[in-house]
Amino acid sequence: MRNKITVVGAGNVGANCAVWAAKKELGDIVLVDVAEGVPQGKGLDLAQAGPVEGYDVSITGANDYGPTAGSDVVIITAGFPRKPGMSRDDLLLANYEVVKTATEQTVAASPNAIIIVVTNPLDAMAQVAHMVSKFPKNRVIGMAGVLDSARFRTFIAQELNVSVENVTAVVMGGHGDTMVPLVRLSNVAGIPLTELIPEARLAEIVSRTANGGAEIVKYLKTGSAYYAPSASAVEMAESILRDKKKVLPCAAYLEGEYGINGLFVGVPCKLGANGIEKVYELKLTDSETAALHKSAAAVKELVDVIKAKMAA
Ligand code: 2OP
Repeated sequence: MRNKITVVGAGNVGANCAVWAAKKELGDIVLVDVAEGVPQGKGLDLAQAGPVEGYDVSITGANDYGPTAGSDVVIITAGFPRKPGMSRDDLLLANYEVVKTATEQTVAASPNAIIIVVTNPLDAMAQVAHMVSKFPKNRVIGMAGVLDSARFRTFIAQELNVSVENVTAVVMGGHGDTMVPLVRLSNVAGIPLTELIPEARLAEIVSRTANGGAEIVKYLKTGSAYYAPSASAVEMAESILRDKKKVLPCAAYLEGEYGINGLFVGVPCKLGANGIEKVYELKLTDSETAALHKSAAAVKELVDVIKAKMAA
């Protein structure tokens, strides 16, 4: 049996998820979007790139969830993107409605799927998908840490003029300005960053990482990043569908880990056929723990707004 992947939202992030997933031949792909013709057109176009690029999967588009039935992984990207000057949090209530509907439809069509949430504000939207789907916590995962650590790795590689392949970076916390790039645990081929980059410069790189999304919004003006976000979501999908058991930073529903309870926050996770198969609880320093808790508090503020709306 072939794997089946649904990508909800055929905008820049969703369409590029389909591109990366097709190139990796992760399975048959269904693009879903409310915009008439857009998922169908992009799906057909991408299918026609198959003979050229040498991938052999079915790629189709639809405006309803019928064709998505029985998906193994559903990547939710639908939502309003950030505009310049807009924080991820401004998107909260608008995207709550979008993710709620997408999740309800996903549950009806693919009750056994693993959901990867990409829509911002990421951690809060993952929590919406978890609450609405009532799926067990291993089957609802937020994409953010892979993206944030990819940005951190890119900046470190550029700074040192070394291969990105040598750079390992850990970013924890929510996907927002309070995210926690962990310098102490990041390295270049095993060499601690602190031995390679002066402290003040490292602080600048950490700050650039935390504002990595906004930097791109500022350039693009009419939207936000999509190549790296989509590649990150597909790396997670691949680890699940191929049961690779990669250890990746993801937004996971925590129940006591790191002293955080009932909240999605970015932490290192093992992703395999069962979704999140393990949350790694690292020993953090006091200041790292404080930063993580500050980030979790920022996520909680948003989740509280959503919970109030759901209760109303
Ligand atoms: C980003 O960080 C939009 O959150 C997305 O680029």
